[in-house]
Amino acid sequence: MTPLFLEGDTKESNLKIFVFKEKNAGEKRVALTPDGAKKLIKNKHDIIIESGAGLESGYTDSEYEAAGAKVGSIADGDIVLTINKPENISLKAGQTIVSLLYPLSEPALVKKLAEQKVTSIAVDMIPRTTLAQSMDVLSSQANLAGYWAVLAAASRLPKIFPMLMTAAGTITPAKVLILGAGVAGLQAIATARRLGAVVEVFDVRKVVKEQVQSLGAKFVEVDSAEDAAGSGGYAKEASAEYQAKQKELIKKHVAKSDVAITTALIPGKKAPILITADMVASMRPGSIVVDLAAEQGGNVEGCEAGKIADKNGVKIVGITNATSELCVHASQMYSTNMVNLLNHLCDKEGKLNLDMQDEIIAGSVIIKDGVVVHPKVSG
Ligand code: NAI
Repeated sequence: MTPLFLEGDTKESNLKIFVFKEKNAGEKRVALTPDGAKKLIKNKHDIIIESGAGLESGYTDSEYEAAGAKVGSIADGDIVLTINKPENISLKAGQTIVSLLYPLSEPALVKKLAEQKVTSIAVDMIPRTTLAQSMDVLSSQANLAGYWAVLAAASRLPKIFPMLMTAAGTITPAKVLILGAGVAGLQAIATARRLGAVVEVFDVRKVVKEQVQSLGAKFVEVDSAEDAAGSGGYAKEASAEYQAKQKELIKKHVAKSDVAITTALIPGKKAPILITADMVASMRPGSIVVDLAAEQGGNVEGCEAGKIADKNGVKIVGITNATSELCVHASQMYSTNMVNLLNHLCDKEGKLNLDMQDEIIAGSVIIKDGVVVHPKVSG
């Protein structure tokens, strides 16, 4: 077999970056687009794609080849880019895998990767800081998921969202309640407002009140001085007293809503249940509840991940694949995140330099040459 790279080819190149074809059922995204490949090639990296890697997102092998990439196999890469957890990927010692990993809740996978003597960079651990924003895949993907959640609700609600004044009478706008105003929640608010709904929002972090209001939504507040804002724009767990008050408040607002969208997340914890079965029962038949946290256990009692549950006419949509449904833009954004991350991981000459003094690198490198190095992850 002819080798993929001849001696002359590789003289100038820095890293050989392999783009994996995602294998998870329903996954249509790709970690690097031809445009992203072109940018990395310009920085003297070689891009090798698994044949068909971009097809589901609309990119043919020839588009990658036109951008300067080659089709090859995983063994050709120094770096392997994949989106989903690398559960069934065989890596060779010395390779670096860049992927979502959720290392705090995946100890067995961390162990397996360490045994393969690889370096593992978990993109879900990139800190949520201003500097890291351009590499933050959780944010880029959650943004799209927030948009999709609203469309999933609007397309199932037997009502329209905007107010209409017609000769056939006036239609009042739909009432949408959004729980959690982080990245996905804020995009859900903006999308529901664009469609003309009246939007109410609840979040345990008081800091988001102004952002919610600036999008034209009403911020619903628990009567308490407590603020569950944690570090890095994330929430921490609220006290039991606060949670009880919150439950009463949500109960009142859910019953009046046509749509409820839940996006509440506390990093490293199971998703908090915010809408209980009796709250669902209090909603009018035909109402829609969309649970974006379905994959993390759900914010809604009775939610089934990847399914639609019907509770006396109220539908609970357990969304798991929002970003895959929007794979063109999800891949485009993920790819830009990867280009920025790889540029950050390399020194001025384009050589990989995992400087553990750097906040972004220290936050996301979990395993270095087979050794678990992240202080929060047990080896
Ligand atoms: P985020 O951390 O930016 O936002 C979560 C928000 O929930 C924060 O503002 C936090 O303060 C709030 N929150 C926490 N506990 C709460 C409580 N008890 N009551 C009200 N608000 C509370 O997270 P992000 O990135 O917006 O993600 C939201 C959810 O969407 C996550 O569960 C994430 O995994 C999921 N997601 C789902 C996707 C899918 O395809 N289904 C794709 C991307 C994200």
